[in-house]
Amino acid sequence: MSITLPLASLAETVALGERLGVTASPGDVITLAGGLGAGKTTLTKAIGRGLGVPAECYITSPTFSLLHEYPGRLPLYHMDLYRLAGEEEIEELGFEDYLYGEGLCVIEWPERLGGLTPPNRLHIDLYFAGETARRAVLTAHGAGWQAGIGKLLDT
Ligand SMILES: Nc1ncnc2c1ncn2[C@@H]1O[C@H](COP(=O)(O)OP(=O)(O)O)[C@@H](O)[C@H]1O
Ligand SMILES: [Mg+2]
Repeated sequence: MSITLPLASLAETVALGERLGVTASPGDVITLAGGLGAGKTTLTKAIGRGLGVPAECYITSPTFSLLHEYPGRLPLYHMDLYRLAGEEEIEELGFEDYLYGEGLCVIEWPERLGGLTPPNRLHIDLYFAGETARRAVLTAHGAGWQAGIGKLLDT
């Protein structure tokens, strides 16, 4: 099941992210795909605000460490896998503890996970639709998200 949301401005992207953060449950996984500058990190920051990550915890892309953890109502695990060498590195770094942890896991460049991609997740594709406009396509993977994706948009 997929839902397309036009994001006409940065503010609309931020509002979507905050809603995702407010409604997140322990163990949720959100994967974010889209080219450089599509808004994956911007959306992650807003998810963090919705989760209650304090403003002084400045959310940046974890380019070199691949993973940053922030405190909130639930812990936020933010992965940017752009520089991941291969699936075996996921296992070496112990990332499966985060993929199946108690926090909310938000993953940029999830394609790098290959066969280790969690089966239950909300996947979001971000597309350019203008200088400050984007389009988000949300796809529910797994029964939980299939039931929850509609509710998400009603709130
Ligand atoms: N509607 C929008 N949604 C998200 N980002 C936007 C939007 N309009 C403009 N931008 C800008 O696009 C850039 C997105 O960068 P970033 O979030 O780092 O992308 P990515 O992580 O996908 O490479 C930011 O500078 C952001 O301010
Ligand atoms: Mg990014």
